[in-house]
Amino acid sequence: MEIILGGVIIVSLIIFLALFLFSIVIFAVHHKTGGAMFVPTPKVMVKMIIDSVDFSRFEDIRELGSGDGRFMAAVEKRYGRKVRGYEVNPIAYLVCRCKIVLFRLGSSVVYRSFWTEDLRDADCTFCYLFPDIMPRLGMKLGRELKEGALVISANFPVPGWRPAEVLRCTHSIFNDPVYLYRIGSHLGEPAMTGEKYKE
Ligand SMILES: C[S@@+](CC[C@H](N)C(=O)[O-])C[C@H]1O[C@@H](n2cnc3c(N)ncnc32)[C@H](O)[C@@H]1O
Repeated sequence: MEIILGGVIIVSLIIFLALFLFSIVIFAVHHKTGGAMFVPTPKVMVKMIIDSVDFSRFEDIRELGSGDGRFMAAVEKRYGRKVRGYEVNPIAYLVCRCKIVLFRLGSSVVYRSFWTEDLRDADCTFCYLFPDIMPRLGMKLGRELKEGALVISANFPVPGWRPAEVLRCTHSIFNDPVYLYRIGSHLGEPAMTGEKYKE
């Protein structure tokens, strides 16, 4: 009985410390993330995106805040295309690095803020961030990306941009919209096309 109780206390302590560390890190990088915390895109949504977009058409794919690397792993596995990710949360960065090594991926992640990066060579970007920073992101992407580049934003739209398509899972919980914008035709009245994804 005492052994079981001791085990429960130790496991609870480990969980508490892990959550505490996770919260501290989130708090410490808040000035860089602007509220875009380390919350991975649900796997069904990643699958929907890679089922819907032909990533083999792109030469330079960037992930703005790569989290645990699930998007880059899925893209590379399906299309053989490498993704370059940026990450400022040290826990997410380490998880992503481990995934790259374990799965022997050619994709990469740098421990750096994407705000300081020049994205003009990218022809496709993917992000899942936070509403507060989307206006600033729209200005950066609109300024740097070339005509025809695809911008994919999970959950949050770029204010004032017109999506070429909006994807949505039919999943009962994970059915947040994914916005696809094409640079060059991204300005104008927001017009939701409301495309539904069929699993
Ligand atoms: C909601 S998570 C999404 C992670 C991943 N893209 C996914 O879809 O699973 C957002 C991630 O962006 C990272 N992030 C936020 N601002 C960033 C910045 N300025 N530079 C690099 N990474 C950033 C956060 O640390 C977090 O891991």
